[in-house]
Amino acid sequence: MNSEWWKNAVIYQVYPKSFNDSDNDGYGDLNGIIAKLPYIKSLGVDAIWLNPLYVSPQVDNGYDIADYRTVDPRFGTNEDLYRLIDQAHQLGLKIIMDLVVNGTSDQHEWFQESAKSKDNYFSDYYIWKDAQPDGSEPNNWGSNFSGSAWEWNEQRQQHYLHYYAIEQPDLNWENPRVRQLVYDLMRFWKAKGVDGWRMDIITSISKNQEFPDNPGQAGEKYVVGNQDNGPRMHEFIHEINREVLAPFDMMSVGEAPASKSIDARQLVDPERQELDMVFTFQHMHIDRKPGGQNGRWDVQPADIVALKKILSEWQDSLRDHGWNALYFENHDRARTPSRWGNDQEYRYESATAFATVLHCLQGTPFVYQGEEIGMTNPDFALSDYEDVELRTNYDKFVKTRQTISEADFLKAAHQISRDNGRTPMQWDDSQNAGFSEAEPWFKVNPRYSEINVKKDQQSSKSVANYYRQLIELRHQNLILRDGTYHLLAPEDPRVFSYERVLGRQKWTIVVNLSNDQLDLQQYLAVKETSKVVLSNYQRTKLESEDQALRPWEALVYEEQQ
Ligand code: NOJ
Repeated sequence: MNSEWWKNAVIYQVYPKSFNDSDNDGYGDLNGIIAKLPYIKSLGVDAIWLNPLYVSPQVDNGYDIADYRTVDPRFGTNEDLYRLIDQAHQLGLKIIMDLVVNGTSDQHEWFQESAKSKDNYFSDYYIWKDAQPDGSEPNNWGSNFSGSAWEWNEQRQQHYLHYYAIEQPDLNWENPRVRQLVYDLMRFWKAKGVDGWRMDIITSISKNQEFPDNPGQAGEKYVVGNQDNGPRMHEFIHEINREVLAPFDMMSVGEAPASKSIDARQLVDPERQELDMVFTFQHMHIDRKPGGQNGRWDVQPADIVALKKILSEWQDSLRDHGWNALYFENHDRARTPSRWGNDQEYRYESATAFATVLHCLQGTPFVYQGEEIGMTNPDFALSDYEDVELRTNYDKFVKTRQTISEADFLKAAHQISRDNGRTPMQWDDSQNAGFSEAEPWFKVNPRYSEINVKKDQQSSKSVANYYRQLIELRHQNLILRDGTYHLLAPEDPRVFSYERVLGRQKWTIVVNLSNDQLDLQQYLAVKETSKVVLSNYQRTKLESEDQALRPWEALVYEEQQ
């Protein structure tokens, strides 16, 4: 059974640590979120995805979980969370939680017990290996946060595997008891009213049990592709579906970092009974220099032709074989107006332009907190950043390998660092942007007095009001959910344009993703009988003599057929 409510939905993502601090300790919390439920509801969204709130030492901002069933005291109590779920439900908002089960925190009691010996109840909960006869690590696998994926444990005299931070040991999914515990915790939260799951790096849960070296990577341990999609991945995900998702009608969106559209089809085709949607990373790599030595820190300007190609492949590949999860921002991504748009003279226009591209595609759009007011990347100094990924990568590329200068690394951080999206939410122009009366855990973006919810609401160029229109449009028009998709002008480097068709209805979406003024007639045949459905330049109709497609202009245009 799957009610598929998510196909009509827009989902708002809350990063609790940075959303709203109600008790003034510098951390966002559950009561802070509860206080803002009316605001979230006012956007017109249907559901909220909450990043991890569970007990955690916060080495990786809550993705290192020490207790899956208990709320971390810094966010409040379990009762607060139950109240949030209840109040959200009363407002008609569903709740999606984060399921982080590729690994746990090393502080989780399962790991503490597992580390004690090779023959206790928890011994096989994690992936332990002996050192090789010459004392070296079990294989050459690297962690996604740089360095080795293996860590020596003195107590147990073995290495354990960690795909991410040293403090995030990977669970052993080969062990059926581990899997059952995961299903149990999912049922526990279902019983509390949770409606679905965002599944952290779910494509990594199965590991090649031969643990072979990554080939052809002299001196390079980082190969996420080889480590993803282990041989039993589909089997395990299908089991999650059978044990929990299907019987309890829970929505699922899996994080699938290395997946291309063809892989995604295997994960989300309803016939296969695995997941409802996946988050790909593919389209987010359009500003990564191919073949660079420094991974994602070798940046380039956004390649719009590539963006169109990738998003179109996903639209085409999943048509009738699954469903897209649509996003540009989340807690691991930078702010779009700064990253790919123009966060100075065209901040409103570029924020709404990218929003139009995304929300008019087929799929379920996700809006990340602050995206709806056009928040921007801060120009921080290196010492201001908090993220474990940034710090470990700095040590690797700038300090150890010296393949990138500190200045270039900082420039890249300004463009793509995960911390760009994690600064406190900007509510108003009071101290700390109205996020907290205490000093926040992470620096507030210095542009907060110019960019905040209150000011946006008062502006004639309100990004949030544009989002409200987009969300309403999706709810009111089946064409955005069900219409066919056809990309126009695939090679045009500045304009993203496509058609959606449902029966006799045809919508053309034309979005200028550049600072240049272009010729509208090149992209659209303006007809007397046609109408403007949405415009970020407040156009209500098009005159045939109106020839300009303005910088970052977005138009949704309906042709009466
Ligand atoms: C994906 C999460 O989104 C990210 O924030 C985290 O660092 C990694 N998974 C590891 O858990």
